[in-house]
Amino acid sequence: MQKITVIGAGNVGATCANVIAHKELAKEVVLIDVKEGVAEGKALDIWQTSSINNYNTRVVGYTNDYLKTKGSGVVVITSGLPRKPGMSRDDLIKTNAVIVKEVTEKVIKYSPEAIIIVVSNPLDVMTYAAHIASCKDKTKVFGMAGILDSGRYKAFLADALNVSPKDIHALLMGGHGDTMVPLPRYTSVAGIPVTQLLDKEVIDKIVERTRKGGGELVNLMGTSAWYAPGAAAAQMVEAIVDDQQRIFPVCARLDGEYGLKDVYMGVPVKLGRSGIEEIIDIDLDKDEMKLLNDSAASVRSVMDAMDAMNLF
Ligand code: LAC
Repeated sequence: MQKITVIGAGNVGATCANVIAHKELAKEVVLIDVKEGVAEGKALDIWQTSSINNYNTRVVGYTNDYLKTKGSGVVVITSGLPRKPGMSRDDLIKTNAVIVKEVTEKVIKYSPEAIIIVVSNPLDVMTYAAHIASCKDKTKVFGMAGILDSGRYKAFLADALNVSPKDIHALLMGGHGDTMVPLPRYTSVAGIPVTQLLDKEVIDKIVERTRKGGGELVNLMGTSAWYAPGAAAAQMVEAIVDDQQRIFPVCARLDGEYGLKDVYMGVPVKLGRSGIEEIIDIDLDKDEMKLLNDSAASVRSVMDAMDAMNLF
């Protein structure tokens, strides 16, 4: 791909740009930020690792100059304030919705064909904001959360089982918040159902820790995480650029899938060159469906709060 843009040169955006460059997913990565000099500085720092880490992708940064993003194939939006201790992701709606709206409009002006990946919080509702602001098909505007949340879930399982995280396959659905729905029934270790390897009590604890995984890191560091969120967004970019048809949990607009309509949340999708190529509608039992409906209700209440602000 010729050009990939990452909006927001904070911890998540810069990490994402760094991983994209390492993987040589494009000829050029453009990093944009509102703060004078930050995108330029971080891009330069990343570019200076090219000869050390052996990649060609040119990384450049600009302060608010969207003309430089012209013709991007994929744009990752990370703009917005991160959480501070004691804040929920939902506390960020007001500030971040305005930012995501403005950024999306500028992105679309210069790259009308771009696929947009939203990373800003509250994730599901910011994906909704970007979808409205872009006026694009829902297959081209979606959010990153499921890869991050399932990455946390897999890391905890790998620790509990003392196995390689590479052998763990897991599905996690729902909104990116405390109501997210890790699915032990769809979790396996080299094909062995995890329910045969760990007691229910241990699995329940891991599920609960996963749900609060972002908050655990905010409490430790005083701000939100970046290594896993940045790498997870880059993995989605890779699936698109290389047309991999990979199956990931991705925040998508639902129009009847899982019996849910007009709500944005994590569901398994197939990702390829044209974006979301398919939303996979798997069987959920009564308990799992209840958790998913609760999560949808929680996302919807934040969507309603944003609607009430009349920003669009
Ligand atoms: C997290 C933030 C980025 O889950 O939402 O770490």
